[in-house]
This record gives sequence, structure tokens and C-alpha cells, in this order.
Amino acid sequence: MSNPVTAIIVGAGHRAFIYADLALRRPDLLKIVGVADPDKIRQKKAAERYGFSQDFCFDSAEELAKKPKFADAVINGTMDEQHVKTAVPLLEAGYDMLLEKPFAVNLEEMNELVNCVKKNNRKVMICHVLRYTPFYYAIKERVANGEIGDIINIQTTENVSYHHLSTSYVRGKWANSDRCHTSMLLAKCCHDIDIMMWLMSDTKPVLISSFGSKYQFRRENAPENAGEKCLVDCPLVDTCNFSAKRLYIDQPERWAFYIWDRLEGIENPTDEDRINLLKGDSPYGKCIYKCDNNVVDHQSVMIEFENGATGTHNMVGGSASSLRHIHIVGTLGEIYGDFEESVFYVKKIHPTPTDECTVEKVDLNVKGDMVGAYGSHGGGDEKLSEDFVSFIRNEKPSLACTSIFDSVAGHKTVYLADKSREEGGAPQKYE
Ligand SMILES: NC(=O)c1ccc[n+]([C@@H]2O[C@H](COP(=O)([O-])OP(=O)(O)OC[C@H]3O[C@@H](n4cnc5c(N)ncnc54)[C@H](O)[C@@H]3O)[C@@H](O)[C@H]2O)c1
Repeated sequence: MSNPVTAIIVGAGHRAFIYADLALRRPDLLKIVGVADPDKIRQKKAAERYGFSQDFCFDSAEELAKKPKFADAVINGTMDEQHVKTAVPLLEAGYDMLLEKPFAVNLEEMNELVNCVKKNNRKVMICHVLRYTPFYYAIKERVANGEIGDIINIQTTENVSYHHLSTSYVRGKWANSDRCHTSMLLAKCCHDIDIMMWLMSDTKPVLISSFGSKYQFRRENAPENAGEKCLVDCPLVDTCNFSAKRLYIDQPERWAFYIWDRLEGIENPTDEDRINLLKGDSPYGKCIYKCDNNVVDHQSVMIEFENGATGTHNMVGGSASSLRHIHIVGTLGEIYGDFEESVFYVKKIHPTPTDECTVEKVDLNVKGDMVGAYGSHGGGDEKLSEDFVSFIRNEKPSLACTSIFDSVAGHKTVYLADKSREEGGAPQKYE
């Protein structure tokens, strides 16, 4: 039996722990041997959780990279705009890497990182967790087996629920591109565009066009008597659909890892601690209409591929519930599916005197995107960590395995879609 792959967490936020927890479930596969994070509380949490000493705690990726290499790989769970600057010195120091998406926030950064991976001959896998879900994996198998023939068109949709939009893209970490350096399409839908590229892997995009805007949460749309902070000065605190009281105090677990991150040092935070946080300078306590959000809340993307096929993706923020749909039309049939329900239908052209097609219903019996406190992307998060171990060990990768090179087309398409949106929909050439 081979020894476990050894890994160091870089950026000990909520995502990194999801992947690193494979070490707790399968110590034969993965061992976490160190951490790099400027946050001392998170360093301590990682050291206690995975059982290593203070000697293996570092204050940054950069500091870690200066030490002699002591593990096979790094699990890089830093924030979007830190991926390239933390990855480069660690790849140069000889580490392979599991790297969160988006792996780079613009084309220049993307080229820098891809060149660094090539130059240092390292293995880098990107966390495209959706590929690992039973739903998308089964659809990919059907397409790869040729069941619906050659793809003519793919339509994908992602509806981002009102509470997710409010938390991440109006009040939170991805609300202002001057701070996070990421667009909503890149942060939220690089997975969906990646799925499209994965299904279309025999060809490549040639032309991309996109429209989108910030429709809903603007200062001028605030109700006349709205306050600045929900729990401080707003008479609508009990009635507004987006009030911090109704979204966060009444539902304290739903987005806990974002809303309550400043309470991490407190053992058992009370409702009073939470209320005080929202009354203070937490962005999550602000009136939803009076934040400094500058990212779009809805965007549509159109793609033409080299072989003449087309694809569209619609991102709509603010829906009553979250949803992902996919509809693929091929020359022999089509696949239509609902990710949240984990159900898809395969229809095959079948002309008979009484019928037009055959219909097969496939129910994966995995309900929902959010499973457990952290959300598991329909089981994808767990499977991805196991595949990373196989990737590092040079074992046969799964169909879903996404090396950085496999992720380039999706990222580049998103950068070009955003450029098109900024230019009022002007088509952009993918070169
Ligand atoms: N794959 C997915 O489906 C998925 C879902 C959600 C988020 N994400 C991505 O995961 C990434 C992490 O998100 P998160 O919410 O866990 O982030 P987070 O803010 O909780 O964690 C980031 C950590 O990086 C640390 N850090 C900052 N500078 C550092 C440095 N120089 N060296 C080492 N550590 C440093 C921070 O202190 C923090 O603890 C983001 O890129 C996000 O877009 C991916």
C-alpha cells in the first residue's frame, strides 16, 4: 500500500478545510502536515484538527515557500485575487497544488500561472467541484459515449437565490470588484462555463458575446424610509425580505462561514454577539440597497464554437431559490436536467408511426447543492479531494479531473464575456 499524499494548507478558510478533511476520513490517502495563513486562529484550528505542531505553522504562502519543501502538495484555498501570487512561489519551490477556482482573475494572471506550471513541470488541479457531482458526471458519460450524437447547442442556467446574492454579491466578499478583483460571472459561473467546455472538449470557443447589469440593489431602489443599518435604524427590519435580521439572525447557520467569520475566536457565540456584530461595522448588517456593490446581478453569455455549435449561459441573481439547469441538443437526441433535483431526461430521436422519440428519466437521488454546514455541491467536494490524491500519485485520473490546462478555456471564456459586457455586448474573439 502506498503512503498517504502529504499536503500543506495555504489559506485555511472554509474551502480548504472541506478538501483537507479527506485526511480525517481516509488517513491512508491524505495527511495534512502544515498550514500557512496570516490568521493565527485559523493556524491553530488547522494544527489541532490535523495534529501537527506549531513548528509547521507559517504566516503566509510566501514564508512557507522560503522553507525547504516538506510535503508533496499544497491545498491553496486563498481568496481569488491571491491565487496567482501565492501559487507561483510555491510551484517554484517544487510543490504540486490543488487550487481553488477562479485560478486567476484576468488573462495576464492566467498566462503567468500557466507558464509557471509549465516551466516548473508541476501538477496543478483546479477545484471544479461540479464535474464531480453524480449529476454532471453522468451527463458527461452519456455525451462522451455518443448517446445524443454531436452537440448542436448547450443551454445552461444558474439562478442564484436572493439570500445567496445578498450575502455574497451585494454585502459580502464578491460585491465590489475593486476589492475582490473578480466579476460575479467569474466567481459564480466559472463552474457552469467549465461544464460547457468539458462537454464541448472536442472543439473550442471562437466568439463570445455578453450582456448584464446591476438591476436590483441600488440606492435609488431603496424604500423611502429605509435606514442605513437593518438592526440600528431601519423601521423595515421585520418586513424587508433582505433585512439582516431575517436573513442572518433568524437563519444563523445558512451562510455562517461568511457572516460570522469575525466571531471565529469565540467558542459559542450567542444571539447577542451576532446582533452586536451586525449592528457594528459588519458589511452584512448594512441596508441591502445602500452597500458599495458594483458587480452585476444578472448576465447572459453567448458562445460560438469552432465547429459551428453554440452555447448560452444565463446567470440570474435574486431568484426565490437556487437552481441549475442544463439542456443539450445533439444530432441524435437531447439531455435536459435539473441539478437541484438531480434528475435528467435523455430523449433520443426515434421516428415510429406513433412516436417521435424515446424518453429515459435518470434520477441520481442526490438532492440539492447544499449538504451540511459547508455545502458539498451535491457530493462533488468529497470526490474531488480523492481524485486529487490519484492525480498526484499519477494514477489514472477520473473523467472529471481538471488540470489547470483543462480549465483554461472556461476561464478565458469568462474573461472575454466580461469584456464583451463592458463593451455593450461587442463580440470578442477567442484566440
Ligand atoms: N470550488 C467552489 O465551488 C468554491 C466555492 C466557494 C468558494 N470558492 C473559492 O474558494 C476560495 C477560498 O474561499 P474561502 O471563502 O474559503 O476564503 P477565506 O477568506 O475563508 O479563506 C482564505 C484564507 O486565506 C488566508 N490568506 C490570506 N493571505 C494569505 C497568504 N498570503 N498566504 C496564505 N494564506 C493567506 C486568509 O487569512 C484566509 O484564512 C476563493 O477563491 C473562492 O472563490 C470555491
